Amino acid sequence: MTGDVARFDEVIASLRLPAVAAPMTFISTPELVAAACAAGIIGSFPTSNASSVAELDEWFDQIESRRARAERTPGPIAANLIVGKQNTRLDDDVDCVVRHRPAMVITSVGSPAPVIPALQVAGCLVFADVASEAHAHKALEAGADGLVLLSAGAGGHTGWANPFAFVRAVRAFFAGPLVLTGGMSDGASLWAAQCAGFDLAMFGTRFIATDESAAPSAWRDALVAGTMDDISLATAPNGVVASVLGDNAGSAGHTVSAVHGQQSVAALVDEIETGWHQAQADTRQLLDLEPQL
Ligand SMILES: Cc1cc2nc3c(=O)[nH]c(=O)nc-3n(C[C@H](O)[C@H](O)[C@H](O)COP(=O)(O)O)c2cc1C
Repeated sequence: MTGDVARFDEVIASLRLPAVAAPMTFISTPELVAAACAAGIIGSFPTSNASSVAELDEWFDQIESRRARAERTPGPIAANLIVGKQNTRLDDDVDCVVRHRPAMVITSVGSPAPVIPALQVAGCLVFADVASEAHAHKALEAGADGLVLLSAGAGGHTGWANPFAFVRAVRAFFAGPLVLTGGMSDGASLWAAQCAGFDLAMFGTRFIATDESAAPSAWRDALVAGTMDDISLATAPNGVVASVLGDNAGSAGHTVSAVHGQQSVAALVDEIETGWHQAQADTRQLLDLEPQL
C-alpha cells in the first residue's frame, strides 16, 4: 500500500467530522476555507482561484491566521491543484504550496505524477481526484497517498461511476485513504459513505449558498429554487463533462435538492453533524432490531 497512513490517521483524528468543504472554482474564498477549518472540517480551495501567486501567498497567510484564532481544534487546509495543461501557473503554484505546506493537496483534471515528489517532500499528503479504475491505478502507481473518487451527480466537472460500485472496486486493490466526492447531501450521506468504505467525503454544492462563498445572488437563488431534476450535463471543448443547473445558472450537483436557503458555514457544519449523529443512532437502532426481524 502507498501513502503515509499514520499522518492521514492524525488528520482524521483532528477532525470534528470526516468531511471536506470541496474545492470550487469561482466559489471557494479564503473566508469559506477559513470558516470550514474553524468549524472543524477540512477547508479546500483551487489555487487558481487566487488571481496571482502573490495573492495565493496572501490567501494562505489569511487562512492560517484565522485558523490560529479558531475556538475549536481547526481542521486542516487542502490546496487543490488543477494539473491539466490549462493551468499555465502550475509550477509557480506548486512552489507556493510547498512554502506553505498544507496538510493535504488534492490534484484534479490530470495526472498527479509531476507534482507528487515535491509536495510529499514538503510533507503534504497528496490525494488524486479520479473518475475511473484505470486512473485510480495510475495515480497510485505515481505514488499518491490517497484517492478522491469522483462519482456520478457531482457538481462541477462530474464523474459517471456509481459511488457504491466505485468504492468497492477500488477497495479490492487499495486499503489506503479514500474520499468520496459527489452526492453528499447531509450527515446521513456522510455516515453512509463511511459505511460503504470511504474515510472522508467532500461536500461541494452544499457550500455554494453559504454566506462565505463567492457565488453571485442569481446562482444562490437558482440553487434554492432548484432540484436534482434541473441538473443536466454539458461537455466543454476540452472534453470535461460538467453538471449544469437549469438554464446555465451555474454549476451544481444532484445534492442541489438539499439546498433550502442561505446559511453560514458554521450553521451548515452544525446541521451536517446533527444529521451524522442521528444516522448513527438510526443504524444502532436498526442493528438492535435486526435479530427480531
Ligand atoms: C461550481 C463548482 C466548481 C468546482 N470547481 C472545482 C475545482 O476547481 N477543482 C476541483 O477539483 N473540483 C471542483 N469542483 C468539484 C467539487 O470539488 C466536488 O467534487 C463536487 O462539488 C462534489 O459534488 P457535490 O457538488 O454534489 O457535493 C467544483 C464544483 C462546483 C459545483
